[in-house]
Amino acid sequence: MSYTVPKLADFSAAALDSAVRELVSALEQESAAVSSENDWKAFRDRWIARKNGILTQLNDLWLKAAPGPNKRDVGQRVNALKPRVEQAVDATLARIQSGVSSGKLAAERVDITLPGIRRPLGAEHPVIKTMNEMIGVFRNLGYSVEEGPEIETDFYNFEALNFPPNHPARDTQDTLFIAGQESKPLRDRLLLRTHTSPVQIRTMQKMKPPVRVVCPGKVHRNDALDATHSPIFHQIEGLAVDTSITFCDLKGTLDHAMKAMFGSSVKTRFYPSFFPFTEPSADVQISCIFCDGKGMRDGAPCRNCKASGWIELLGCGMVDPNVYGFVDYDPTKVSGFAFGMGVERIAILKYGVDDIQLFFQGDVRFLEQFG
Ligand code: PHE
Repeated sequence: MSYTVPKLADFSAAALDSAVRELVSALEQESAAVSSENDWKAFRDRWIARKNGILTQLNDLWLKAAPGPNKRDVGQRVNALKPRVEQAVDATLARIQSGVSSGKLAAERVDITLPGIRRPLGAEHPVIKTMNEMIGVFRNLGYSVEEGPEIETDFYNFEALNFPPNHPARDTQDTLFIAGQESKPLRDRLLLRTHTSPVQIRTMQKMKPPVRVVCPGKVHRNDALDATHSPIFHQIEGLAVDTSITFCDLKGTLDHAMKAMFGSSVKTRFYPSFFPFTEPSADVQISCIFCDGKGMRDGAPCRNCKASGWIELLGCGMVDPNVYGFVDYDPTKVSGFAFGMGVERIAILKYGVDDIQLFFQGDVRFLEQFG
């Protein structure tokens, strides 16, 4: 029952004492029930608001109503109640602010002896880590970074890279096509890019030579997944175009990059290959990092290089002059090289991972080893 100030009929000392006791007991109970700042404001207003607070009501209901002979007695008691109520209001505030109380507030109190909340730190994904390392090697050579869309048009993924429509070289790419594109002209049809080479074209359309860029990104191929294949993987593309770039620059650059990634004792070897957008083209092999290029390890043929002593790592070549025709570069004035490498393949070698699927399964026990 909430307390209301009673009208007094009996102004005897005993009756006054009893009325005061009742009021003080209500004050104490209500003070104890205060458990928040908002509670406290309501409590304060109820007791000491100038307009109609309980103290004000005492003046009207007790003091003014008292007959002449009792006024002194009533006045003394009402005056004594004032500081008492004010002190209770102050003490209540102090209590909730210090949080020392029973009930709710005790539970809200900060116990500094409790152990902290552990926030586990994430680690860079090994594919991103490898990518960033390789980008770092090329940044140090003055290359900048360019990116392009993962959903590409036939023009950027094939045509401008010198894969003519219906050319058999397109079959090597196991392309995933976006459905429902038949009404568009071939060059505008969408597909998931099969390599990062379209970023070469986008870059050359955007800037004039000299160009030195690396283009990291995700690519897609219609490959069944196994320990070495995944329909989604990553590549880093490189492109350098300037006035007198030669195959020597290409060899020197990639030899340096491989040594920076795998250690200075690694050798490189350039093997003739074919890509429609480079001429001549080469596959780059590095000496096997598991058997030091010997082909034999612990008296047995090395499994990592199939006893050849070499591991194939990337494709490259001199930019085919036909490609310059698609981007308004003058093939009689500029020359350049390009290369493309699979990031997972590099990570597999660097970290001794035996299954490419591990990169995509999101198993923390695998990933945290790269933290
Ligand atoms: N884009 C080629 C591939 O995915 C690799 C490559 C890039 C070859 C640049 C030559 C130059 O196989």
